[in-house]
Amino acid sequence: MKPIPLLTESQIKEKIQELAGIISSDYPDGLIAIGVLKGAFIFMSDLVRALQVPCNCDFVKVASYKGKESSGKISLELCPSLSIFKKKVLLVEDIVDTGLTLSWLKGYFSQKGAEVKVCCLLDKPSKRKVDLSLDYTGFVVEDHFVVGYGLDCDEEYRSLPYIGYLKE
Ligand code: IMP
Ligand code: MG
Repeated sequence: MKPIPLLTESQIKEKIQELAGIISSDYPDGLIAIGVLKGAFIFMSDLVRALQVPCNCDFVKVASYKGKESSGKISLELCPSLSIFKKKVLLVEDIVDTGLTLSWLKGYFSQKGAEVKVCCLLDKPSKRKVDLSLDYTGFVVEDHFVVGYGLDCDEEYRSLPYIGYLKE
């Protein structure tokens, strides 16, 4: 099934420049960007290269026990290797849907003593289950299943350079 185009490569590129400019001015002394695998890997790599401040990179992988929707039962399948105690951490996520994943991660890293903010490329607010404040958001999208630019549907479509949605 071919995704229906939603955001073009150039729209994404422009948005990332804008986000990187804001993040760079908010973190003049640098930051640790922590990407949430797998979905955020492309966004993260473009974002960190557009920053104008020092940035260390790390990743987490979340095991969330879900069928079609997040259950909220979350654990880490891959932990970050960098020390984050008292560090400025920016969680980088592809999309926020129910918000359960990011809200759990935010709590996890805050408990470990990090100063945590979150940056997501896409925000899908219609199915939010928790009150989560997003510090940096690229685009707000409607309740579609979106793919491409790192986002998958059963591991397909991740390598598409644009973002589209799948017809129900
Ligand atoms: P949340 O815990 O419901 O906010 O789940 C967020 C995670 O679910 C994201 O990091 C994605 O991996 C996945 N996800 C949610 N919506 C979509 C979508 O439309 N396309 C692809 N993945 C999605
Ligand atoms: Mg994700």
